[in-house]
Amino acid sequence: MSMLIRISRDLMKNNLQHAVKNNTWYQTKSRCLSIAAALQHYGPSVLGADQIKKMYEQSLSDPETFWGEHARSKLNWIKDFEQVSNSDMNTGKHEWFLNGKINVSENCLDRHVARDPDATALIWEKDEPNTHVKVSYKELLEKTCQVANVLKRKGVQKGDTVCIYMPVSPIAVACMLACTRIGAIHSVVFAGFSAEALSARINDGGSKIVITADEGLRGSKRISLKNTVDKALENCSVDNVLVYQRTGADVHMQHGRDFYLEEEMSSESVECVPEPMDSEDPLFILYTSGSTGKPKGVQHSQAGYLLYAMMTHKYVFKYEVGDIYACVADIGWITGHSYVVYGPLANGATSVLFESVPTYPDPGRYWEMVERLKVNQFYGAPTAIRLLLKFGNEFVEKYDRDTLKVLGTVGEPINEEAWHWYYDIVGQKKCPISDTWWQTETGGIVISPVPEQDVVPPKPACPMFPFFGVKPILLDEEGKELHGNDVSGLLCLGSSLPGMARTIHGDQERFLDVYYRPYPGYYFTGDGARRDAEGHYHITGRVDDVINVKGVRLGTAEVEDVMDNHDAVAETAVVGYPHEIKGQGVYAYVTLKEGISESEEDIKKELQAMVKSSIGSFAVPEMIQIAPGLPKTRSGKIMRRILRCVAANKPEDVGDISTLADDSVVEEIIANHEKLL
Ligand code: WTA
Repeated sequence: MSMLIRISRDLMKNNLQHAVKNNTWYQTKSRCLSIAAALQHYGPSVLGADQIKKMYEQSLSDPETFWGEHARSKLNWIKDFEQVSNSDMNTGKHEWFLNGKINVSENCLDRHVARDPDATALIWEKDEPNTHVKVSYKELLEKTCQVANVLKRKGVQKGDTVCIYMPVSPIAVACMLACTRIGAIHSVVFAGFSAEALSARINDGGSKIVITADEGLRGSKRISLKNTVDKALENCSVDNVLVYQRTGADVHMQHGRDFYLEEEMSSESVECVPEPMDSEDPLFILYTSGSTGKPKGVQHSQAGYLLYAMMTHKYVFKYEVGDIYACVADIGWITGHSYVVYGPLANGATSVLFESVPTYPDPGRYWEMVERLKVNQFYGAPTAIRLLLKFGNEFVEKYDRDTLKVLGTVGEPINEEAWHWYYDIVGQKKCPISDTWWQTETGGIVISPVPEQDVVPPKPACPMFPFFGVKPILLDEEGKELHGNDVSGLLCLGSSLPGMARTIHGDQERFLDVYYRPYPGYYFTGDGARRDAEGHYHITGRVDDVINVKGVRLGTAEVEDVMDNHDAVAETAVVGYPHEIKGQGVYAYVTLKEGISESEEDIKKELQAMVKSSIGSFAVPEMIQIAPGLPKTRSGKIMRRILRCVAANKPEDVGDISTLADDSVVEEIIANHEKLL
């Protein structure tokens, strides 16, 4: 109750002067009352350490009661569920809130509109500096309904897939929510992927409709999205393309297929009855990289995902009603789905949409935004922190950051230097850092210094604690559970969580092969971890052939597949190497066919261009070594460990190479590497 009073009081204080001047004091009062009502409805986000401990224990000992109660108190149900969970870690089955009926957009919009229609849902921090646009919950609901009605008119039905290839914008959020309104499955593709990558995702998801924009804007650079879509569609059969006019650029519009989104919306009603969806109906597909094969469409379902995103958002970021919360991720990644859109909106928060880049117009962009928008929680990627710290403290210190309460990081390990800069300089040693470990597949944050951070001193670069319901398990190579503290192993999860991926779209076998068959009874994350002497979790990095470039997950096999298509190339092997800013860079070892006369430099340039056009510029190898051969075992397996050591400038760590078919190749590779530097 005291918090309720404090919030009301702060709000009163902030608005009183303005209200008296404009004679709108009664509106201020009603806003306070509606905030108070919201607070009573959802409960506090800042919990005491004892309470957290009790909740965590209950979440493991009696998950049915724990999740059941939260699902009933935090979500609006069209029809109550009959069973909390029917999950089995042995078969990779996750079913939550069975036979319940729910609509995600209704939970993210209508219920907040009923309470406080003018509350700000989104603040769009546009690419152009010093411009932001506020969108209220009522406006967002109306736009969502209009898009939903357009989609219906274009023939989209419950269960159909809609591809969204758009810049970060309120209209993109409305498009995602519009899909959920009518029960369509969205497949958002990051608007930095190439035409080839986009067409593969459109085809795999079976999308018959694509929503895009004329152009994107990032750091004042125009990105021709519609052109890319046109190119992608040469290989797809799509009925309609809806084009949002972000810049107003002149783009090619194919008669009968392409329509301007806002023109189509203008004739539609601002109401659309939400479709009752089964808890377990698919909500969205999101493609992510694995260690083998093509990217996989990770599929999430309705109620469990929403509850998990909502609860993690609330407790990890200590989100309180009235806070301005900014996650600067792109909506094209899972972080954007869970912590720009679904988690915050389900909580009725004000969520900032960041369209720009951290260095535009200068490296003070984030902190200028924090001051101007009065941001309370800031959630970003270590790669940006590493980049910004190079520019010095002045770009941070000239802006007021006193509103900040919690800082978060995600997507890759944060090194200690970056952690300290974030904690000491950005947060002025006052803001706890939530170093959040999770994955596209988990739907939401799994390990993070949540709640007990107030009583346990923070540990740099350490996600520390499992979230409610999470049972982290460390296994040795043979799959034996490692008990006790001070142990390192393969990170697995031993319990089902409501937000876990349900399958890989169209490929249940691959889903089981990748996550559930390697260590029966557990979900295998692909990461390694250490449980330190005090029982806190540290992530040691991927243990498979996935690398993390600027916080973006990339399968080395994907890059190899592209380069293998070059006529001069015999064989390739791609590994990650430590990169000061990007976390990891892409390093390619390439062997050529006999009798190639083309210059090595030309081949390298062509390979880079191929990767750019097949995947996207973030995947382009910065280092390419034309190698005499690849180190292989006698059975023909490439010894990537050796390639990683050389790429990391640590040839002395190569160790035993006696199992190689031809060990002379190692010396040549080391010599070649030195020439590249
Ligand atoms: C890595 C992003 C260390 C990890 C939400 C994981 C991290 C992969 C952290 C998932 C962290 C994510 N510390 N590593 N705090 N967070 N990772 O699917 O390797 O894009 O498996 O999801 O990123 O990447 P994804």
